[in-house]
Amino acid sequence: MKILALSGSPRKNGNTDRYLEIVLEECRAQGAETELIRVCDLSVHGCRGCYGCVNAKACVHQDDFQLVFSKIMKADVLVLGSPVYHSSITPELKAVLDRTGFCGRWAVSEMKAKEGAYEFNASILSGKIVAPVTVARRAGQNFAFAQLLLWAACNDCLIVNNTYWNVGVAGKGGAKDAAEDEEGVTTMKNLAKRIIYTANKLNA
Ligand SMILES: Cc1cc2nc3c(=O)[nH]c(=O)nc-3n(C[C@H](O)[C@H](O)[C@H](O)COP(=O)(O)O)c2cc1C
Repeated sequence: MKILALSGSPRKNGNTDRYLEIVLEECRAQGAETELIRVCDLSVHGCRGCYGCVNAKACVHQDDFQLVFSKIMKADVLVLGSPVYHSSITPELKAVLDRTGFCGRWAVSEMKAKEGAYEFNASILSGKIVAPVTVARRAGQNFAFAQLLLWAACNDCLIVNNTYWNVGVAGKGGAKDAAEDEEGVTTMKNLAKRIIYTANKLNA
């Protein structure tokens, strides 16, 4: 089982990275292969809306997106993590998700503008297990968390749920202390267990 975590935080070893690592550590302990990509360390432009991928069946703009996209294609599970910035996920993660969602569809499907229909299994993301994670100092978790959920929901992914939203709370002034949020850490460990449980059930 391949689990890929995408961190949308510009801060290396910040709260988001730490939370994703907690999830991955637990998944590794259960035998999964894991990788964390920090999307802010890459150069991935936002989607230009050129629709070039409809015919090319791949993104026609060359930057680090191709690298992330190939890793996403091979992953069984995507753990999407972002700090909350003004009630939103970060633009770097949004750029990756926009391009992946759009060209992931056209990589395997034909544009059916007239019918206006989408086929079953019509994306490279179809059937992938997705888990959202957000970290904030205080407010806006729900909006950022919902962005990740909505992306997964319209890209034919299977969303893993938990006994609480997968969120962490950090201190003020950019404190990198979300690992002290005991409830948040427990939630991440439970999320990892739920990811493994779901993946095993699907493969059973
Ligand atoms: C530009 C910016 C916007 C932020 N907006 C919010 C916000 O809307 N709500 C909030 O609670 N915290 C906000 N924060 C605080 C971060 O979400 C918080 O520090 C988080 O733990 C950072 O995660 P990281 O350590 O992974 O970078 C903001 C921080 C920055 C730099």
